[in-house]
This record gives sequence, structure tokens and C-alpha cells, in this order.
Amino acid sequence: MNLNLFQHISIIFVLATVNILSNPINMKSPNGKLEVSFYLENGTPFYSVNFEDYKIIKESALGFIFKDSNPIQNNLKIVDAHKQYINEKWAPIYGTQDSIENKCNEFIFNLIETTKPERLVTIHFKVYNDGVGFRYEFPEQPNMNDVIIMDELTELNLSGDYTCWWIPGDYDSYEYLYNTTKFSEIDHTPYNYDTRLDRHHPNNKSVNTPITMETKDGIFLSFHEANLTDYAGMTLEAKDNFKMEVDLVPWADSTKVKTKVPFNTPWRTIQVAHSASELLKSNLILNLNEPNKLENVSWIEPMKYIGIWWEMHIGKSSWSIKPQQNSWANNSQYHGANTENAKRYIDFAANNNIQGILIEGWNTGWENWGVDTLNYFDFVTPYPDFDLEEIVKYAKEKGVEIIGHHETGGQAANYETHLENAFKLYKSLGIRAVKTGYAGQIIPKGEFHHGQYMVRHYRKVLEMAAKYGIMVDAHEPIKDTGIRRTLPNMMTREGVRGMEFNAWSDGNNPEHTTIIPFTRMLGGPIDYTPGIFDLLFDKYKDKERVYTTIAKQLALYVIIYSPLQMAADLIENYEGNPAFEFISKVPVNWNETAYLRSKIGDFVNIARRNGENWYLGSITDENARTIYLELSFLDKNKNYTAKIFKDGKEADWETNPFSFEIINKIVTSETTLRIHLAKGGGQAIIFEPIK
Ligand code: NOJ
Ligand code: CA
Repeated sequence: MNLNLFQHISIIFVLATVNILSNPINMKSPNGKLEVSFYLENGTPFYSVNFEDYKIIKESALGFIFKDSNPIQNNLKIVDAHKQYINEKWAPIYGTQDSIENKCNEFIFNLIETTKPERLVTIHFKVYNDGVGFRYEFPEQPNMNDVIIMDELTELNLSGDYTCWWIPGDYDSYEYLYNTTKFSEIDHTPYNYDTRLDRHHPNNKSVNTPITMETKDGIFLSFHEANLTDYAGMTLEAKDNFKMEVDLVPWADSTKVKTKVPFNTPWRTIQVAHSASELLKSNLILNLNEPNKLENVSWIEPMKYIGIWWEMHIGKSSWSIKPQQNSWANNSQYHGANTENAKRYIDFAANNNIQGILIEGWNTGWENWGVDTLNYFDFVTPYPDFDLEEIVKYAKEKGVEIIGHHETGGQAANYETHLENAFKLYKSLGIRAVKTGYAGQIIPKGEFHHGQYMVRHYRKVLEMAAKYGIMVDAHEPIKDTGIRRTLPNMMTREGVRGMEFNAWSDGNNPEHTTIIPFTRMLGGPIDYTPGIFDLLFDKYKDKERVYTTIAKQLALYVIIYSPLQMAADLIENYEGNPAFEFISKVPVNWNETAYLRSKIGDFVNIARRNGENWYLGSITDENARTIYLELSFLDKNKNYTAKIFKDGKEADWETNPFSFEIINKIVTSETTLRIHLAKGGGQAIIFEPIK
């Protein structure tokens, strides 16, 4: 680890006790604009939240229902309380900015039941300028040991019918298009969602987080959780009167959380801002996670990668070498993961500033993908046409990294039995990144992707990967709650309806990526896999397509942050295309980010700096628009050349998606740039200082 990074950290802690006789007890953010109130009424704890003069969260109750003991709900009193002012800065190992401020007022309330068994629970708040986090902590105590939680009663009650951007509270998947409705209209009954085996959303009024909202006064809110480590994932249930309550993802036996004292719940988080772009600045989720636990992080390195991947999704090749048993994927005659094809990709990567190559379908078992009665993957045996050692050697000679692949088919228990062996193999070959996948119903049967069983599993995989010096990109993951701060080998994950849906479903409409930054991306990095240039891929499929222009594909490299970022298309579609210059040049790690004027569901503008250069991404939904953007983020003392990758004059995602041009301009921080975006279009710019 680079210790220099940590030298600028200054920490201020000021401790004080809190007057517990005042009722409610008010807790302010450092700038005084956000205020949380906490009080007990007839033994029940409540909180509410004000932002400036607006009550954004009304009186909301806290509590638990347990399996083998009385609820903790309405017989509590405060024993004592403490507060502390925290002001520090820390440096992420990679990310969207060099340094992160962690500044808040922290309040700790120690409560006890007024009746037997007199259990203890602590309610812990951290009040930031950009939001609030709170959690329950159950300390070691005489009358509480093993705990089975049946329901967490935490409420997050709104004070009005806010506009919401939401996806269903599916226990297995976050791979949905977003809905924009009033809170009172949250209900997925009418949407007729797909009910494949690995989809499960029994409660039509529940949503997954992050869910983002706008009040009628133009205040933006987002609800999520931080540091989900050994607990059930949280969905939120929309109730009458704008009430919202935590609804935890169950175990197969319908219980929610199995644990013992001492334990803490994840943080329940509410991010608040005056504008959509300001919401993106928030580091609340990372700040509520613990500092890096890995001693040596020299092997952790962001990179761009290509892959033998899209070709399977569009049906050019297949994962399996033999016909598959199940209909999970295509049955192309051509097995993509063969030595020759891998070398072709390695050559391309070496020549085009791409550091990594992912190869899916390299190992035996794919012919049984989806057959839940068999444990078909061992994660170490290559198919006969895939010379693993030869490929690794070839890649090394060319200076290219192999990204390993572990598809489990959802068979988590089977994966655990092979886990250490699988990582040992990669370690021995010098492979230091793996993409994992859980496409299928979870086995053990009855467990869900987002329940405590799997939360534990994903953590186990991450820790094992860390032990062998391997970075993780998880697909079909548990949501990102900021664990990358603590275990920075957790690079990126899916947990979104990504590019693949354009290959084999009715696709991702042009609006989708204008909502993702304000919802899913508040959790953390996304392996969306942008960069498709052959937007129609008619050679392989006639109905399916990508719902953008080429320029918008480029802009996504700036808009969607991912420290492992894919150039997803077939390499033959990149060769000779001038638009590829942008993908080849765009960095994947950033010193600074400027979140510019954006409107959720309409358009997004983000600029990021790496070294002296700035990169701008602008995207729009299905509407063409012209945006006047001030370049005040540029250095005042420099002139820049702007290389602009833009939609052509006639571009239109539907009728003319390939129309594209590159122009150069000289600009300064005083320039106002006129950016025209085609329907479903975008723009990507490289700003380089003139020496
Ligand atoms: C689903 C993943 O999201 C996708 O990227 C992968 O190609 C397939 N599973 C097969 O592992
Ligand atoms: Ca997926």
C-alpha cells in the first residue's frame, strides 16, 4: 500500500454526552441543514428527518420481531447517549476522486427494555451534510444470545407523494428497467414481469434499493443500505399514507436473519440533495463502511478489458463445446473459448491499450448449465480446445491480463466446495481478476440471491479472492453497499439490467442509462459493459438491437463508473472504426469528477479528470436535445484541445444509429459548449491541455 496516500489525513473527534431528557433529541449535520430527531413514545423509538425547512421523513418507528422471543418494539427507555463530531479525509485506492471527506455528527443511543428480559439495543446515527445513516447494534449481553429475526420494523415514512424511480423488490435480481411513478403508484402487478426461475418478487408493492425520489419542492432523496455484511438484503415496501417499511429477503425457511450477539445491522441510508447531480457527489455509502482491511493492495489495479463474451450473447458462438441440455443459452456450433480465438483477442488488446481479456465458456460443464440436479462446474478443468497454459503464456508475452471466469449457474454450495482450488489455480497462473456469475436459481434450493445465505456466500468468495490476490467482478451479485472500501478487491459488479439484455430480450430503452446514475450507481461501480458499435448485429439476429447511437456508447465510459470497464463488442467491429480511439484512450480511474447539469430520465452530463486531461460524457433519452454546458471545471490557466466524438447531423438511435463524427475545437474554462444530442444519442469529449 502507498502510505503517502494517507499522509494528508487529519482526524478530529470531539466527544460529548447528550442530554437525554430533552424530547425529541435533535441531531444536526455539520452545516446545520439536515436535522434528525429521535425520541421515544410509549416505549417505541421514533425518528424523523428535516432538510432545511422541509420535513422529508415523518415520524418513523424502529423495532424488531424475533422468532423465539418478544418483539423489541414498545418497551424501551434510553440509558445514556453520546455524540461525537468526526472530520477526516481518506484516500480510496481507486475511484472517482483522490480524496474523500468524512464529516458528520455521530449520535449513539443506548436503550434497554423496561421489562424482562431487559435486552439492550443501541441505535446509532451518523448525520452528514449529504444524508443520514443509522443502524441497530446489539451488544454482548446476559439475556440475549442466538437471534432469529423474523421482521425488521424500520419505517421510512415520507411526507408526501414523491416521484420515484424504482425497480421491483425482487429477491433474486436487480435486472429491470426503472419505473417512474408517484410513490402511491408503486405496484408491479400491472407490469407483467418475467417470472423465470431466477426471478422472485412476491410483494408487488416492494422495491429494491437504491430507490431515488424527488419531492414536490425539488428535493432529491435516495434510500439504500451500507455495509451489508452478514444480514439479509433489504427491500422496501410501499404502504398507504406514504409509509415505507423495511422488508428483508428471507431464508428458505422464511426466517430473515440468523445471528448472535454482538451484531450490527447494515446502515439504513437516506441521501439528500438539492439537485439530481448533487446527489451523485455523495460519498455517504463509502463513509459508512470500514477502512481498508487489506495490507497489501499492490495487485489491485483498475483496467479496461475485452472479452469472448458478446459473441455468445448474440449467438455467434456458444459457451458450451457440446449441445446444451437446457435452453439457457444458444447452441451455436462454434465454441468461442478456443485457443486461437483467445489469441486473436489478446493480440487486439495488446495493440489497443486494453489491459485485460475475459474468456467465458473456457471450462467444462456448460453443456449442463441450468440443470439444477447436477453439480456441473469444477472451475478448474478447461475444455479440450482451450489450452489454458498456452493462452496464459501468450498473454503474458503480450503484456495482457487474463480475467478468469467462474459461472456458478446459481450453484453457490457447489462453488464453495471448489472455491479455494479454483483460486489457487488462478494464483498459480498469475491471473489476478475473476468475473463470477450466478445465472440460475440458487442451490441450495429455496435460498435467494439477496438473502443472508448468499450475502455470506458473496463475502466468503471475496475474502477467498483477497487471500489469493484476486480482484472480483460479480454478476448476479448482492447489491453494492460500499464493501470496496473495506475489501478493495471488490472492484465492480452487475446488479443492473446491463448491455446483455439488448442481445436477447426487448432490450434497454434509450431512457434506461439516464436513470441508472441516480439509482443503481449511488451504490457503486457497475459492470454495464458498454461499447457496442455494431448496434444492429443483423448478421446474427434480426429483431434484437442496441437502443442508442454510437456516440452514446462512448459517453457511457464516462457516465458509468467501473474500475473494470469492458469494451464489449466483437473485436472485428472495432478494427478500423475511428470511434474506437475514444475507448482506447478513456481511463478507468479518476482523480476528480464534476457532476454537471442532469435531469433524471432525460439527460446526464458528467466530466472526470485523470491527470491533466478531462473527459466528458453526455447522454440523452429518446429525445434529441441541445445542451449549453459551461466548461468551468477545466483549469482556469490552460487552453485545451477538445476532441469531440459526436452524433452525426442525421443521427437517430432508431433510424440512423451509426451516423457519427469527430471534430476538434480549442476551449477554455470560460467556454460554453453547445452540445447537440440526437434521439437516443450522446457525446464524448477528450480535453487535453495545450502545452
Ligand atoms: C450472466 C452474466 O451477466 C453474463 O455477463 C454472462 O455472460 C452469463 N451470465 C454467463 O456467465
Ligand atoms: Ca446478468
